[in-house]
Amino acid sequence: MSFPAKRLRRLRTSEKMRELVQQTTLSPKDFICPVFVQEDLKTRIKVETMTEIERLPIKDVNEEIEEISDLGIPAIMLFGIPTQKDEEGSSAFDENGVVQKAISQIRENFGDKIVIMADVCLCQFTSTGHCGIIHKNKIDNDVSLNTLAKIAVSQAKAGVDTVSPSAMMDGQVAAIRKALDEEGFTDVSIMSHSAKHRSNFYAPFRNAAECAPKFGDRSTYQVPYTNAREAMQEVETDINEGVDIVMIKPALSYLDLIAETRRRFNIPVAAYSVSGEYALVKAASQLGYVNENNITSEILTSIKRAGADMIVTYFAKSASKFLQQS
Ligand code: PBG
Repeated sequence: MSFPAKRLRRLRTSEKMRELVQQTTLSPKDFICPVFVQEDLKTRIKVETMTEIERLPIKDVNEEIEEISDLGIPAIMLFGIPTQKDEEGSSAFDENGVVQKAISQIRENFGDKIVIMADVCLCQFTSTGHCGIIHKNKIDNDVSLNTLAKIAVSQAKAGVDTVSPSAMMDGQVAAIRKALDEEGFTDVSIMSHSAKHRSNFYAPFRNAAECAPKFGDRSTYQVPYTNAREAMQEVETDINEGVDIVMIKPALSYLDLIAETRRRFNIPVAAYSVSGEYALVKAASQLGYVNENNITSEILTSIKRAGADMIVTYFAKSASKFLQQS
């Protein structure tokens, strides 16, 4: 009788042996926690499409950040929902805007205890619901760049650490970097939504942030999910424009692109596990078809295994809780 030349089961014999050879680990330190703040809100409101996710009034932000920070999560990603929308998205760069207020309040209360990241986009702030400014019936790339730069500078003035452009306008990283540097914010970093795909997985977020386009869709600016090479060009362009962290979005259906980005470039890679990924898990676990924590652990681990250094995830708080217990 011949023996197998190699027995991989030898290193699976006990819990401790398996721990010893465990390659990929998950920690609260891997997470960036999204936070939704809404102007003129009196009390927290639940996001219908995303169980356990809420929109917060400014007054509740400190309490939320305290909880996130106590869980060992190093960073937050702020999204604002303004009261006023107009064609220029002017509430997005208002010094007294909801995001700017949240940033300065968090900075004042938490100093350097948490990394403050903020979304830089227009769709929550424009009456059209598009991520760019409409000019002559088109989403005008270069007009939009000026506005995105203004948003980034206004957030920098409020004390943001990292701005995170998600509008998918060409040249957005270069425009923002230049504007930040000219205003003296050379230390404010940029984490770009480099390869943000035109995804069906964003649907629940649009209920969370009231940012659905009023007409058309986002296919003239977001990357088609059929085009991996184009996604790599987006990443490369952002790197050439001086980005500090690149991001692949969504995460779970895009693990190949996370892995490819990791292989090709020596830059931190973030993955955004988006609202639809969260909602699918929530729905299936509420029906009792899967175990929520176990499946979350597997999904987030797979995103790290693919090569992500950090993950923006709506599971940040719940996963940190079960990781602390295990
Ligand atoms: C808007 C924006 C979207 C998301 C983040 N920023 C929606 C969109 O592009 O329509 C989606 C995030 C998620 O689904 O969790 N620029």
